[in-house]
Amino acid sequence: MVKLKVLQQLAKHHGTPLFVVDHDILRKNYAEFRKHLPRVQAYYAVKAFADPQVVKTLFEAGSSFDVASMPEFKIVHEFIKDMPHKERQDWIWDKIIYAHPIKAGKTLQELNPYKPLVTYDNSEEIRKIKKYAPNAGLALRLKVLNTGAMVELSSKFGAAPGEAVDLILEADRAGLVVEGLSFHVGSQTTNFENFVQAINLAASIFEEAKSRGYTKMNLLDIGGGFPVPYDKSVKPFKELAKKINAELNRLFPKEIQILAEPGRFMVATAATAISTIIGKAVRDGKLCYYIDDGVYHTFSGILFDHCQYRLNAFKNGPKDICTVFGPTCDALDVVSMSEELPGNLKLGDLLYSKNIGAYSVASSTPFNGFPPAKIVHVNK
Ligand SMILES: Cc1ncc(COP(=O)(O)O)c(C=O)c1O
Repeated sequence: MVKLKVLQQLAKHHGTPLFVVDHDILRKNYAEFRKHLPRVQAYYAVKAFADPQVVKTLFEAGSSFDVASMPEFKIVHEFIKDMPHKERQDWIWDKIIYAHPIKAGKTLQELNPYKPLVTYDNSEEIRKIKKYAPNAGLALRLKVLNTGAMVELSSKFGAAPGEAVDLILEADRAGLVVEGLSFHVGSQTTNFENFVQAINLAASIFEEAKSRGYTKMNLLDIGGGFPVPYDKSVKPFKELAKKINAELNRLFPKEIQILAEPGRFMVATAATAISTIIGKAVRDGKLCYYIDDGVYHTFSGILFDHCQYRLNAFKNGPKDICTVFGPTCDALDVVSMSEELPGNLKLGDLLYSKNIGAYSVASSTPFNGFPPAKIVHVNK
């Protein structure tokens, strides 16, 4: 994390709310991912923090990208468009997967010229892809266990294991090429068994497809979900990587290309939010601080990402359990109901929250007219 003194200087210079992104940490996270999962090409899930400068740094570090909308696609395409065009028909797949299983027809039409790699999980989507993006390659998204994940995703997406090969054969009959399988074990998955079981399920679908005559699959996309050490209960990434490597090497021959779509893992630890105390009150005997950032803004992850961020003061002092409210008029705008902060903080004092890079400013809104945090990039 950027030194506290530097954070204070940045807040003084730029004002608050402020969102400080440390590119050294982005590079470190990418390097750690590749070091521990050498067989897995990382496609950064842009949705976690769709910032062109973040994309640039990760691109330069060697990353590929998972996008879920045309605006995200365009952010990435800006960087890859000048890459030397390879003869291979699937050149764009080296850098982009469009990994949203449900795509509007118009989106597919726009994607088609790029010969994209897209995910799907149902028959209607096959018909849509055939009609609007016949040049696309397909990856079938499987429904897998999301047990213990902070953000569950399998209730919305994924083909049931029993229908998987039928959907592969249906796409084949439609004249499309299913290149492989994908899954997502749920975001911030601290239950490593989810990955083990999903890889085993994918291997059994590969086998069943082969036994039913389909032999064109050459990739496995193990999705996102790689956990971030928000607290000490999260086991080290290298323990998870060891399990994933063991299963991949046991079940998938070397010629199968392995992809992953880490979002949170790349960006969460790279950003710190700084806010200013703008109000102070005692309500029902409890100390309440009001700050200039809240759940409609940088702390949106409290609602949308089910994530709780700790607040810290730059000043020391005897601590109280207090409530921290955001700046809007909405009573929903609660950053924390029980934060341990010095009770003697004054209006104008600063607070900071670490590890807030993922799914935070990404879903910030302009509600109530309060401006979103200014984003500052350091160590570019
Ligand atoms: C299809 C897909 N891929 C990747 C991700 C990124 O997941 P994470 O941030 O948990 O790594 C998500 C998150 O929702 C997703 O839906």
